[in-house]
Amino acid sequence: MASTAPPLILGSMRFGDWGARLAPAEVARLLAAALDLGIDTLDLADIYGGHTTNALVGAALRHDPTLRPRLHLLAKVGIVMPESPGNSRRVQHYDLSPAHLDTALAGTLRDLGVGRVDTLMLHRFDPRLDADAVTGWVAGQRERGTIGAFGLSNFPAAAMSLFTEKLALSAHQIELSAAASQALDDGTHAASRAAGSEVQAWSPLGGGALLADDDRGRALDAIAFDFGLDRASLVLRWVASLPATRVVLGTTREERLADAARAVEQPLPADAWYAVWQAARGKPVP
Ligand SMILES: NC(=O)c1ccc[n+]([C@@H]2O[C@H](COP(=O)([O-])OP(=O)(O)OC[C@H]3O[C@@H](n4cnc5c(N)ncnc54)[C@H](OP(=O)(O)O)[C@@H]3O)[C@@H](O)[C@H]2O)c1
Repeated sequence: MASTAPPLILGSMRFGDWGARLAPAEVARLLAAALDLGIDTLDLADIYGGHTTNALVGAALRHDPTLRPRLHLLAKVGIVMPESPGNSRRVQHYDLSPAHLDTALAGTLRDLGVGRVDTLMLHRFDPRLDADAVTGWVAGQRERGTIGAFGLSNFPAAAMSLFTEKLALSAHQIELSAAASQALDDGTHAASRAAGSEVQAWSPLGGGALLADDDRGRALDAIAFDFGLDRASLVLRWVASLPATRVVLGTTREERLADAARAVEQPLPADAWYAVWQAARGKPVP
């Protein structure tokens, strides 16, 4: 175990049918490797793998029963995909009603084979959301012991305040990388910090886009060279240099976890941080 936990979370989106199609034993090995590096939070969502990835993780937890007590399980619910069970119109939508949250949480606990998730997050903002109803639902689940902390994902900055003075928001999970940095420009990152929420940056490599062999990539390589890093490590360090921010890794490979932990050991100095942003944006900040 590392002496200080790296500001990293392991994402499960690509474990199964939406990516590497790992076997349960391989997922278990990946989770054990993450824990050995001090990465104890596992990001989950009911829709991943077309509603199959939570069950894959559940099989991994059964394969190695020492994992569950050491892991912080972070589950997201609230998206209904065209193929999701019960979606008769087959239209992609969001549903944060207590009735849907009940069904989605019950499915999550069943698929994972656990009695509780440590954090429950609303996956996307639904403009129809009733914050009082969600608050009451969260209180009820806490009484039952089925959820720990509560957080949001992909909420516009202003929409977070629907929960002000109702619920503590432990974290806000948002898209954030050098390739997709709107959250820095539009105030979502700042609003999350102001609400006392940890920021969790998903797709820190732009889903792989930042690794392309193009002009932007070559500009990033030149900066990475100065720090003795590869490009992936540089852009992970760029995200982790932001205050109150943890990086949600998308890798399915054990060896990349250790590289990521090394990458985020220290922040970039201001000039290099802005050089990365400039290279990624293709223009300097004003
Ligand atoms: N809240 C939300 O709405 C939301 C949305 C999207 C994602 N997420 C979460 O965020 C997590 C991360 O998202 P992401 O998977 O898009 O993250 P990402 O880190 O931007 O992309 C991961 C992809 O990059 C590849 N990769 C990683 N390191 C590499 C390297 N050094 N060289 C070449 N390829 C490399 C990975 O392949 P390998 O497996 O081969 O390493 C994987 O295919 C997800 O697992 C999920 O938990 C949340």
